[in-house]
Amino acid sequence: MKTLITGASGNFGSMTLERLLTQMDPTELILMSRKPDKLAEYAKLGCDVRFGDFDRPESLVPAARGAEQMLLISGHKVGHRIRQHGDAIEAAKLAGVRRIAYTSYFGSDEGNTALVCIDHHGTEQLLKASGLAYTILRDGMYGDSIFNAAMPAAIATGQWRMCAGDGKVNLVDRVDCVDSAVAVLTGSGHENRTYNIVGPERRCTRSWTRSASRARPSTNSMSAASSGAATTWFRTSAKRATAVSPCGATTSSI
Ligand SMILES: NC(=O)c1ccc[n+]([C@@H]2O[C@H](COP(=O)([O-])OP(=O)(O)OC[C@H]3O[C@@H](n4cnc5c(N)ncnc54)[C@H](OP(=O)(O)O)[C@@H]3O)[C@@H](O)[C@H]2O)c1
Repeated sequence: MKTLITGASGNFGSMTLERLLTQMDPTELILMSRKPDKLAEYAKLGCDVRFGDFDRPESLVPAARGAEQMLLISGHKVGHRIRQHGDAIEAAKLAGVRRIAYTSYFGSDEGNTALVCIDHHGTEQLLKASGLAYTILRDGMYGDSIFNAAMPAAIATGQWRMCAGDGKVNLVDRVDCVDSAVAVLTGSGHENRTYNIVGPERRCTRSWTRSASRARPSTNSMSAASSGAATTWFRTSAKRATAVSPCGATTSSI
């Protein structure tokens, strides 16, 4: 099935792409980027690389033309994404796309005032109202974004700045979220469903950091967590993701 991937040059997009290429012919893949040159190696393989920019709505219908399904990978311009994603959904519909899978965020329910969730909730609503078949992939917080991105800043400043306090989070391995997206794109029976994709351990940041620090002896509990050792620990020691339906019943479909 002709499949359009937005954000194909990014971390999530390229991991998805590599996996899809083991299951699909490259000519089935349409890859969207603001800088198509970044995807030149995939163009050589036979993928259809096209220009597309959420901030240039006129580029979005040509980018989607001929695609039957789309993986809409959320952008990172928080506060502007409902418009950006809404334009992408509208363009996909005009271009004849029949199904959209969207990378949302765990907890993006009505009334959640976190800025990131407002964008995702708004996008989910537009998707549901579009009349297209949809699959919403509510990814939990990626473990690697904590260990690779947030920790170095915490060590540099000596302060852990987060609004979570002792609130608990089910970190998830991004690989599991990518695998879930691939399963949805290559499988059937996922139409008009929303999946929460989270790790099974619900723990506060302090607890995650303590465990990650044990990955390498250290006098500073955060220093191991900031290194690759922490991400490796998370990948190998933390339990793999479980996908649960909104009502909480475990599903084995992805
Ligand atoms: N669940 C979590 O904990 C978590 C953590 C981090 C991120 N996220 C979400 O996951 C998404 C993907 O993460 P990532 O690590 O793959 O991000 P990334 O590596 O920064 O990639 C972002 C992608 O978005 C594309 N993009 C950005 N602005 C665009 C625009 N105006 N029009 C079209 N495409 C645009 C970029 O494409 P080009 O530059 O090629 O145009 C790039 O491929 C993020 O954007 C964020 O929404 C979730």
